[in-house]
Amino acid sequence: MDNRHIEIKNNTGKKRETQPKPSVEVRENSPTQQKRNPGNLEENKSSKNRNSHPNREKNDQSNQSIKSFNNSVFRTEQLSVYYGDTLALSNVNMEIPPKQVTALIGPSGCGKSTLIRCFNRLNDLIESFHSEGKVFFHDKNLYGRKVDAVKVRRKIGMVFQKPNPFPKSIYENIAYGARINNYSGDLDELVENSLKKAALWSEVKDKLKENGLSLSGGQKQRLCIARAVALKPEVILMDEPCSSLDPVSTQKVEELIHDLKESYTVIIVTHNMQQATRVADFTAFFNAEEGESGNRFGYLVEYDNTEKIFQDPQEQATQEYVSGRFG
Ligand SMILES: Nc1ncnc2c1ncn2[C@@H]1O[C@H](COP(=O)(O)OP(=O)(O)OP(=O)(O)O)[C@@H](O)[C@H]1O
Ligand SMILES: [Mg+2]
Repeated sequence: MDNRHIEIKNNTGKKRETQPKPSVEVRENSPTQQKRNPGNLEENKSSKNRNSHPNREKNDQSNQSIKSFNNSVFRTEQLSVYYGDTLALSNVNMEIPPKQVTALIGPSGCGKSTLIRCFNRLNDLIESFHSEGKVFFHDKNLYGRKVDAVKVRRKIGMVFQKPNPFPKSIYENIAYGARINNYSGDLDELVENSLKKAALWSEVKDKLKENGLSLSGGQKQRLCIARAVALKPEVILMDEPCSSLDPVSTQKVEELIHDLKESYTVIIVTHNMQQATRVADFTAFFNAEEGESGNRFGYLVEYDNTEKIFQDPQEQATQEYVSGRFG
């Protein structure tokens, strides 16, 4: 584990605190930092526009605490998502740090799945999907014309709410993806290592030929995580990975998420507040609101260290949500 210090700076850029943490530099967002726009960004958006939504005439930036990282894996710039003509997610500006766990929380319909699917272009498969703004993977525009969405999905793996192993042997669930990608290494080794990384090896090593569908729900989910890991991704996206699991399996997956962040960047959607506090380093709270046309759309309310979001949120809506008053 890298023991470099996180430098947390205030709006004046002065160091206010150091603490031993992994290698992520975290800064409170400041107008100066918003100017560091590499690539083909629309330059220097006013902070007043950040995470605003159409109904809010003059978005109050004072309560926005937007995290800025010196080496973010993803950065969204005024990202809005529509299904057909209907706005689903409005004007999201956020950065995702490397090798950390970031949780997306918020009430049903606030766009968490929509956002997480933007990170590996899975929404492209939905015909009515259309987005505005930008999503950068490192400094590359993920939605640039030359970007191959299939390659993107190989680098940015996904685990879904309902475990969905292939109706094939446990071994083939892992080996299949590698084989069709012309993997030239030792498949047995890849299967073993991936299952070990997903904390499943000891439970299945003697029955690799059995069908993946014969496993328990929790084992199936870890098999899906092993399948994602086998493709050697950089990022693992998880959309409510534990919602269909019992508490023991949930605990195993949570422990696994904790281990995974040594090698991968993890973004997890969860409805389980305790889970967010247990696994996430950073948490983004989204809310949904009714637009002028009567449809509900989601927007980012607050994004900060998990501890801050749960113990000292800046926004009343966050406070009410994390204390279970709605959602
Ligand atoms: N494939 C789709 N086609 C049309 N509208 C969609 C589609 N997927 C999501 N939406 C709409 O987008 C909005 C956000 O949905 P999304 O599934 O992202 O929310 P969520 O926060 O993940 O909710 P939940 O917690 O219930 O999973 C909702 O109004 C939803 O109806
Ligand atoms: Mg969802």
